[in-house]
Amino acid sequence: MAQPLISPSVLAADFANLQRDVEMLNESSADLIHIDIMDGIFVPNISFGFPVCAAIHKHAKKPMDYHLMIQKPELYLGSCKENGAETIAVHIEACPHLHRVVQEIKNLGCKASVALNPHTPIELLSDVLPDLDVVLIMSVNPGFGGQKFLNNTFDKVRHLKEVIKSRNLNCQIEIDGGVTDQNAAQLIEAGADILVAGSFVFNSPDPAGTILALKAL
Ligand code: DX5
Ligand code: ZN
Repeated sequence: MAQPLISPSVLAADFANLQRDVEMLNESSADLIHIDIMDGIFVPNISFGFPVCAAIHKHAKKPMDYHLMIQKPELYLGSCKENGAETIAVHIEACPHLHRVVQEIKNLGCKASVALNPHTPIELLSDVLPDLDVVLIMSVNPGFGGQKFLNNTFDKVRHLKEVIKSRNLNCQIEIDGGVTDQNAAQLIEAGADILVAGSFVFNSPDPAGTILALKAL
């Protein structure tokens, strides 16, 4: 089985010890650092804004993987880039002009990712899929860490993987929400390339060991 890339979500880090936790990620086998931005409108919670992203970026030695759970994400793409974004994910549900937003992300020199809520079918991506570097499939309803993984994700990943292969596209599948050692192997088998993990990593006694274990499943 292919080894997944692991993108630990700092939403579950200790915000009073952010430098320590980012340094732990630097030293770990994490591939990316997942940054969850929430606006309290698109999702019913507020996480943190760009001053905190700047503090993370100052210490981060791994590529930053931004996940914008906000309305009008097009207003903040430049701020993501300034604060270290390698990848920027916007929600399809927040973008009436998705094609334009995807081009804006690419014009900034970032990888373009589109996130889908659990109820959103992958068919809606059909026309924009060739432009995407990543599709981020939400395996919980976005807004909070520590939620239970939704099992309909497996079929969605399998289906998307088939479409990507049959159309000969070069697009990674990222899974976000409730990822643990109980579902990671099955997700990789279904076709996931990148796994986000927040509470499973940061609430474990040995976060770096947990990251390594997820990679090695
Ligand atoms: C949820 C966020 C996730 C979250 C994952 O809205 O997008 O990235 O931090 O946290 P866990 O792994 O705890 O479900
Ligand atoms: Zn996320």
